[in-house]
Amino acid sequence: MKTNEKREKMKAIRDEIVALTGSPLYEYRVENGYFPVIGEGSHDAKIMFVGEAPGRNEAETGRPFCGKAGQVLDELLSYISIPRGDVYITNILKDRPPENRDPLPEEIAVYSPFLDRQIDIIQPKIIAALGRYSMAYIMKKYGLEDVLEPISRIHGNVFEVNTLWGSIKIVPLYHPAVATYDASMIEALRQDFSALKSAL
Ligand code: URA
Repeated sequence: MKTNEKREKMKAIRDEIVALTGSPLYEYRVENGYFPVIGEGSHDAKIMFVGEAPGRNEAETGRPFCGKAGQVLDELLSYISIPRGDVYITNILKDRPPENRDPLPEEIAVYSPFLDRQIDIIQPKIIAALGRYSMAYIMKKYGLEDVLEPISRIHGNVFEVNTLWGSIKIVPLYHPAVATYDASMIEALRQDFSALKSAL
């Protein structure tokens, strides 16, 4: 797909999400003066990171992973010497859930078709699923439900799946926010990011 076409398709996704009055999170967005968080990075990225949902910093700026979890993600990317601008970063939910509660199934149902379209535009070689909700969604989407296990067991594992643009790799990772609650988790995250780089 040409660069222009990718840009236009991403813009259409943005416009639809901005106008998503039927979303269960739309009112909360408007009441708080929040922005939807569509995604950021290269439309030609080889690696696409899929997080869970925007937090407060993200909803206030419209940028994914720009708060504390984002600092951890930035550190991990620099650990494996990959510039943030070379990857694409997004979430399953495009609006912040109140008090950062876990995404509800009906919210995932509303927003995941946009994620599916973003994946089809970018056609990444690797999808890195950040955290258990993203892992569950992505693994089920690609027919990996039989090998789905708790993230503590399969983080850093690499699963190959077939798509319309060829074989790609799915890598479930701990969510970077875990290192903000428990500093010792940064080691596990670094190892997983090394596995991610090796999968390139
Ligand atoms: N956590 C997420 O899952 N996504 C963000 O964009 C920020 C924090």
